[in-house]
Amino acid sequence: MKIAILPGDGIGPEIVHEAVRVLHALELAFESETALVGGAAYEAQGHPLPGATLALAQAADAILFGAVGDWKHDQLERALRPEQAILGLRKHLGLFANLRPALCHAPLVQASSLKPELVTGLDILIIRELTGDIYFGQPRGRRTAVDGHFPGTEEAFDTMRYSRPEIERIAHVAFQAARKRAAAGGRAGARGKVTSVDKANVLETFQLWRDVLVEVHAQYPDVELEHMYVDNAAMQLVRAPRKFDVVVTGNLFGDILSDEAAMLTGSIGMLPSASLDGNSKGLYEPIHGSAPDIAGKGVANPLATILSAAMMLRYSLDQADAADRIESAVQAVLAAGLRTPDIWSEGTNKVGTREMGDAVVAAITGKTIPSTRR
Ligand code: IPM
Ligand code: MG
Repeated sequence: MKIAILPGDGIGPEIVHEAVRVLHALELAFESETALVGGAAYEAQGHPLPGATLALAQAADAILFGAVGDWKHDQLERALRPEQAILGLRKHLGLFANLRPALCHAPLVQASSLKPELVTGLDILIIRELTGDIYFGQPRGRRTAVDGHFPGTEEAFDTMRYSRPEIERIAHVAFQAARKRAAAGGRAGARGKVTSVDKANVLETFQLWRDVLVEVHAQYPDVELEHMYVDNAAMQLVRAPRKFDVVVTGNLFGDILSDEAAMLTGSIGMLPSASLDGNSKGLYEPIHGSAPDIAGKGVANPLATILSAAMMLRYSLDQADAADRIESAVQAVLAAGLRTPDIWSEGTNKVGTREMGDAVVAAITGKTIPSTRR
């Protein structure tokens, strides 16, 4: 097994460091190689996704990714901005299926922005299409308007588009995931359910999306399919989030809804993600960003990255037992009351990045979880 480790910017290096320690604690045989990406790569090598970093990612079985982005690079031309690194990796590696589980861990119910009775037991899987939609559609750019409300003035435009095969393959990922979750005991006794989120009432792109979802669904009669407009979905996520099982949607809507869902679980610092191609190769990253405001302070929550490493073991490296061990260890440290500041509440132990990593490692190796009440 070869893992490419791309820590990136901001808090990326600190949180990835803890995840790598956790992987070592499992004593699995794997090779790893680290490379620069994002703003860090731009500063050292003049490009956010240097050729060597892309080649390493292409050669690896899986990629563990931290985060990219820093305000100091916001003025660069778009092609050189740190965000282009993650967009480029998704595109070049064909990582079209983005899995973002939003799970409310029982000890964190109090940290949610919603009432405990709405989020207790919350377990949603958001599946975001990741290589199409308005993120990658051409043409895009700026020009002088020839029509519209203000001809002759400067305008900017992007293109929203999806082809039938792009929608078909993400639909299969969603229905299969719902089937698997139901088989694993998902929504107590119920069938697996896919909620397809679109804007078919306004957009051609999402009318095709809806049509294709209906067609592919014919192959999965055991799974329930419902359609929901994105504005309604944004509302239902905060009104009755437990009604969702698997949510499948396009790149742009998925970007927005997954941040919203993250907050239901207590902190965006808790949510891992997997970005997969069609052959179980994947890139694994926390869904939060680089948080340059807290970088280097040792307070970032490493759990989303540690849980991303667990997803990597499960989906790309065929090590489900090791993934289970990480996930149980994370449950154990939360049950023991350890909290980074983002999930801290009265009566729990506030710890830093490193101490949280130590605690997960201790739980994995069967040692007592250190309690460092501050
Ligand atoms: C995400 C991020 C990225 C996205 C940015 C960093 C380009 O917000 O992974 O959700 O918009 O996809
Ligand atoms: Mg996002």
